[in-house]
Amino acid sequence: MEEQSKWIRESLTSFPQPPNRTNHNAFYGPIDDLFSAVKEKKVLLEEESSIGSLDLGASSCTSNEDAHRWKFYEEDIATLRGKTCKSVKASVLLRKLRWCTLGLQFDWSKRNYNVSLPHKKIPDALCQLARRLAAPAMPIGEEFQPEAAIVNYFGLGDTLGGHLDDMEADWSKPIVSMSLGCKAIFLLGGKSREDPPLAMFLRSGDAVLMAGEARECFHGVPRIFTDRENAEIASLDLQFSHEDDHFFLEYIRNSRININIRQVF
Ligand code: OGA
Ligand code: MN
Repeated sequence: MEEQSKWIRESLTSFPQPPNRTNHNAFYGPIDDLFSAVKEKKVLLEEESSIGSLDLGASSCTSNEDAHRWKFYEEDIATLRGKTCKSVKASVLLRKLRWCTLGLQFDWSKRNYNVSLPHKKIPDALCQLARRLAAPAMPIGEEFQPEAAIVNYFGLGDTLGGHLDDMEADWSKPIVSMSLGCKAIFLLGGKSREDPPLAMFLRSGDAVLMAGEARECFHGVPRIFTDRENAEIASLDLQFSHEDDHFFLEYIRNSRININIRQVF
């Protein structure tokens, strides 16, 4: 349980930090410290372009135009300036966070790993956990090498359509997939989209090893449950009972997080 709350905390604080990319990158550029901004009720504002170009000055002509055009501001400043420029609350951005990528960065538009993008190694503790969970699906004497991870964030109504994870060079290596927060329905199909799927619940703390035949099968998440009775997070709740943890609790009561860890090569 403590382990679960630790990964929930990391998923909301450190994992979405640049150079790791999130679904918000394409529109807003890199966003620093989103979760702190939520706690501080900050608002992301778009710098007016005239101010932006003054800021750049003569000295910095290298960075791309769009870099750091959006910045967090206190609520009251944002209210004043929000009338003339585009704005979005940090809390809204957190609710709309759908994914972030750790380690080698997966490029969703090209559906491949872009090794030329700047990236950090996957944190050691997560690597160790993934190695331990992957061990049953590895040949004796061989160790799983976590090189990339995708963190998926699900709010009520969010789904993950049926897909294959086919962008990794070596399918003999498993994918380690961890569920945190609200319970979900997971569908495991066959090698063809037409094969009828097997349905199972994934609860907080469950780990799925996509290995062997299953590694080549379609799968998806059609539903998560956020109501108290079905979410099954009562014991996780206790981990966030301190008042400082209010924002974690509020988030996880309505969300599911999936961390899936991959060996790419
Ligand atoms: C994925 C995936 C499953 C899940 O991200 O590729 O299959 O349980 N996730 O969310
Ligand atoms: Mn998948």
